[in-house]
Amino acid sequence: MYYSDEIVEEVRAKSDIVAVISGYVNLKKKGSNHWGCCPFHNEKTPSFAVSENKQMYHCFGCGESGSVITFLMKYENYSFPEAIRALADRAGIKLPEIEYSEEQKRRAGRRQRLLDVNKDAATFFYYQLRKNPHGEVGLAYFRKRELTEETMKKFGLGFAGKNGNELVQYLRQKGYHDEEIRDAGVATFSERGGLSSQFWNRVMFPIQDVNHRVIGFGGRVMGDGEPKYLNSPETDIFDKRRNLYGLNYARTARAGNVILCEGYMDVIAMHQAGFGQAVASLGTAFTPEQAHLLHRYTEQVLLAYDSDGAGVKAALRAIGILRNEGLTAKVINMRPHKDPDEFMKALGREAFQERIDQAENSFFYEIRMLESGFNLKDPEEKTKFHREIAAKLCTFEEEVERDNYLQAIAEKYYIGVDQLRKLVISYAGAGVGKTAPRPKSGVQSKSGTQDGAKRAQKLLITWIADYPRIYPKIKPYVSSKDFTEELYAQVAERMFAAIEKDKFQPAEIISTFEDEETQKEAAELFYEELPAMETTQEKEQALHDVIYLVKKNSFEHFKQKQAERDIEAIAQVMEAKKALLSLSKLHISLD
Ligand code: UTP
Ligand code: MN
Repeated sequence: MYYSDEIVEEVRAKSDIVAVISGYVNLKKKGSNHWGCCPFHNEKTPSFAVSENKQMYHCFGCGESGSVITFLMKYENYSFPEAIRALADRAGIKLPEIEYSEEQKRRAGRRQRLLDVNKDAATFFYYQLRKNPHGEVGLAYFRKRELTEETMKKFGLGFAGKNGNELVQYLRQKGYHDEEIRDAGVATFSERGGLSSQFWNRVMFPIQDVNHRVIGFGGRVMGDGEPKYLNSPETDIFDKRRNLYGLNYARTARAGNVILCEGYMDVIAMHQAGFGQAVASLGTAFTPEQAHLLHRYTEQVLLAYDSDGAGVKAALRAIGILRNEGLTAKVINMRPHKDPDEFMKALGREAFQERIDQAENSFFYEIRMLESGFNLKDPEEKTKFHREIAAKLCTFEEEVERDNYLQAIAEKYYIGVDQLRKLVISYAGAGVGKTAPRPKSGVQSKSGTQDGAKRAQKLLITWIADYPRIYPKIKPYVSSKDFTEELYAQVAERMFAAIEKDKFQPAEIISTFEDEETQKEAAELFYEELPAMETTQEKEQALHDVIYLVKKNSFEHFKQKQAERDIEAIAQVMEAKKALLSLSKLHISLD
């Protein structure tokens, strides 16, 4: 924590959420909420609600929700302390100097130094391109590739000359130690040559994180040297698995999708042509971490990979990763051109937009690529092809979705629907295609009972948030320990403590979590949709069922632990058993 809980809460309390969000979104009051069009997904009719009472927002379209702090973190892409500072500024609150521990200071200081080295190196390369006569080569190269001045500036493109010493000298002059220069990834050390630039005779692409900070470089060789692209090594500030080239711009493009390409030049060419939503992975294959990062900004990813064999292979891999993350994927056909950069030069932006509109559903693409590996004139191969289709269809968890695809594929490839369905059923029975449950999106977890228990826990939190007065009545039977999901338990614990002190505010609880993902998940707990109920009696029955389910799950959870010889679980099991017995006879009134 950078700021104390008290300060965070003061800032939040003095920042009225309706006033703050009104600065970004046009809101209209209707009922107890203020409504507007959601800034986090594309929509024409308002489903974005801001609640003055709860001091929270929630979008019924895309599910985003949170406090005023989350809103700024998400909208402006601020870190937690940045959001606090912005709100404090606005509310005229003077913040205390941040107090760091010695260790924090050391680490933050070191990271900052490495960032500074990279930033200064970027400046150096930038001026080499423009001010140094050797830079002419680089400038000519970019011009030949039809980049405008504006584009070069926007991406901070630069040039590393043939003398590997100049950069090092420049950085030393700026006061950096050799060790820092090396650890920042811009220079390497050798016995013979001492410290010298990692890059030479290359045009330079600074790689920025989502906050526009330079964390590394890609350099393209002039001429035919090897490797064609050389990238910074991984450093304390450059994690290739968790960053995407161009995301610092793409995250605010709000195009309704993100276009994933293979190369730096592809991203730049696309942005120049007006497709500001293009990103690329960084000289490595696309990773699950990158998919997760993209999920913050979009639901749909369009793949614009090279049209050669390697590109197809990479696209197929990426599709699997995107699907696991719960993102929809489509594939853009670039033929007859190799990559987006070449396509754009040859056919231009309108033609590309058409290709976007015609992008192929990723499942159809997978099957089409699969097909090319079989000779369908040979009955045996044809059978194999059908079997592979069936196995792939088994990977859909949801039956409706699976069946829709099954019908579409059957029609497309002239297979009898019933015949294919039979095949799928026999495969599904054998457990073909079962993937491991997704790590994060636990809500869609497979096992039905586990789902039910989670939902019950969420519902109970929403119930208590909506009717805090019932808390004292259920307190003898339910505690935060009964929430078997770790985050839920934390939320419950903080919520119960706040109710006890008579100062419960959902938004306050959310803001006690620092990272955006956790805040979002916590916020969702307060907005679980309660089933529509008319009478008080119905409501009370529903509440009772939810409490019972939560307790029952807790009982089973601790019984399991007890079986695993967890001594502490014994008391919990006994308590839960007693509580369940009392609950079955209890009536909880909502008054
Ligand atoms: P490509 O070889 O397809 O390059 O590599 P490109 O983007 O079309 O490059 P130009 O148009 O010839 O300049 C695609 C991406 O793979 C990574 C880079 O990130 C590159 O942008 N790559 C490629 C490397 O990291 N190292 C290499 O040697 C080659
Ligand atoms: Mn290219």
